[in-house]
Amino acid sequence: MADRHAASGLYLFTLLCAAQTIATTISTESTRQDAFINYREVSRKNEDWDPDVIAAVALVSSYGQIRLRLRRDWAPEACDQVARVAAAASLRACNGCTFYRHEPAPPNWGVNGFYGPPYGLLQGGMPNLASAVKFENTARRAVRRGSAAFIAGSTDFFIGTVDHSEWGGAFTVFAQAEVEDLVSVVPLVPMEPYRNSTDQYNFTTRWLLDRKPYSLRPLRLEDLMTSSATAAAGRSTDDTAGLLATTADEEASL
Ligand SMILES: *[C@@H]1O[C@H](CO)[C@@H](O)[C@H](O)[C@H]1NC(C)=O
Ligand SMILES: *[C@@H]1O[C@H](CO)[C@@H](O)[C@H](O)[C@H]1NC(C)=O
Repeated sequence: MADRHAASGLYLFTLLCAAQTIATTISTESTRQDAFINYREVSRKNEDWDPDVIAAVALVSSYGQIRLRLRRDWAPEACDQVARVAAAASLRACNGCTFYRHEPAPPNWGVNGFYGPPYGLLQGGMPNLASAVKFENTARRAVRRGSAAFIAGSTDFFIGTVDHSEWGGAFTVFAQAEVEDLVSVVPLVPMEPYRNSTDQYNFTTRWLLDRKPYSLRPLRLEDLMTSSATAAAGRSTDDTAGLLATTADEEASL
């Protein structure tokens, strides 16, 4: 097991080196992200998958990919719906899937009980789910930084970019974003231009004027582990270490 991971890590490292050579001419974040697509994935691109082997989905846009590790133990039905869309080659282009809301958490987040708006989140829609997602959160799990949650009764979801414990367990938390992607890809999705919208409770939210389309890429647990290990090996900032520690705490408390 360890040997196999070491071998595929080396393989990906070689692939990254090759990609870096290319990147000297085409220097973009998405080039780096593309290095994570291995040959096996490319060959499976136009095939239907068994939804049950899908451990994660990558939301792929021109800004890079945001990998969401599905938590079937938290929201089995929502995860199944997402996996089915990612599994079907015909649905994977995800027509109509866009990010349409990206709000920055204010710098004084949580000070004197102030929790926005604006909120710290990146929100999008997945309109080709078979049906609206039901409320599924018996554990009353709170939205944390990196949690992906559906708004029950809709096909819309968001990724928390800060902890939102003030919302309690109101959302169907179904996945966890990979820390590397939360740090290096989510911030690349623009927050502007936007328009304000104030609701009947006098809460103002921000909506992007230009929706940002994304497609879905299915990932096995194995794909997720090799790409994460490679990304982690190339990064050792204190920030990431802190975030990883937070994630580990959360895992431990399950
Ligand atoms: C949105 O509302 C905020 C708070 O009132 C304001 O500071 C900002 O300028 C508004 N932005 C736009 C684009 O209307
Ligand atoms: C709505 O909120 C704004 C500030 O966000 C405040 O100035 C205004 O008085 C509020 N309006 C009402 C009707 O509460």
